[in-house]
Amino acid sequence: MSLFDSPFDPARDHALVTGAGNGIGRAIALALVGEGVKTVFADVSAERVSAAIAASARPELAVPFVGDLAEVETCDALLAAAHGALGEVTHFVHSASPPRREADHALAVDRSTWQQMHAVNLDAGFHLARGLAKRLIAAKRPGSFLFLTSLHAGTPRNLPHYSTAKAGMAMLVKELAKTLGRHRIRVNALVPGAIAAGGFVADASLARHIPLGRLGEAGDLAPMALAVLSDKLSGYVTGAAFVVDGGLSLTNWFEAPEL
Ligand SMILES: NC(=O)c1ccc[n+]([C@@H]2O[C@H](COP(=O)([O-])OP(=O)(O)OC[C@H]3O[C@@H](n4cnc5c(N)ncnc54)[C@H](O)[C@@H]3O)[C@@H](O)[C@H]2O)c1
Repeated sequence: MSLFDSPFDPARDHALVTGAGNGIGRAIALALVGEGVKTVFADVSAERVSAAIAASARPELAVPFVGDLAEVETCDALLAAAHGALGEVTHFVHSASPPRREADHALAVDRSTWQQMHAVNLDAGFHLARGLAKRLIAAKRPGSFLFLTSLHAGTPRNLPHYSTAKAGMAMLVKELAKTLGRHRIRVNALVPGAIAAGGFVADASLARHIPLGRLGEAGDLAPMALAVLSDKLSGYVTGAAFVVDGGLSLTNWFEAPEL
């Protein structure tokens, strides 16, 4: 059998994707369903969840959940709904994030915007991952978790609420990977570059800084996400961060040589 046949076992593997209503989360959730994996599509927008599920190859495998993950009670309701619908959730993707606005620089960002960014990215990511892990450990089941971080976990974005939340997530991945590894739960980060999805207002001129010559699309992230989620393909990988950026992070003030 080819290595790439059946990266998941639909009889055992079940997924939960946050931010599944749009952009990268949506692309990953649709790809999981395409592999036959029953998947909870969680998002704050009911319209987006419905549209994503309607676009899915097999809508009968998609379970909708609508709620604001900045609220811990909503995270608990999501855990209960996911466990009720799927049993153990073996694969978790945390892609939900509030929109970023350039106006929210260090001297302008208000307290509620700061808190919302941290609550959805970091607090919800921790709360959900821990809740899912506790169930998997009790059931003696392996799992694979993936957090959408950012290049700006390591470099400023002029949006301190965003970069600090992503930096926190990057360390959360390492903490969880170390703690959960002995329970066969792998935890990794996917690090997008400039992806023309909802979370990033793409300026086409940015392409000149990208070695592969174009902005990314949400669909560019899904194959790598599935490879890292799959125990068959990445069973010995944990605590790692996979950059999918067309080479954007190689950019500095030296131009590439003319050939
Ligand atoms: N697009 C990029 O260039 C890029 C770059 C680096 C990192 N990322 C990260 O990747 C992830 C996905 O980015 P995207 O561009 O696809 O974003 P997006 O805005 O297209 O999608 C994010 C989804 O999260 C949902 N959401 C927002 N607040 C929520 C809340 N309180 N509760 C539940 N759901 C909520 C939104 O409704 C939306 O559907 C984010 O974590 C983002 O920070 C994106």
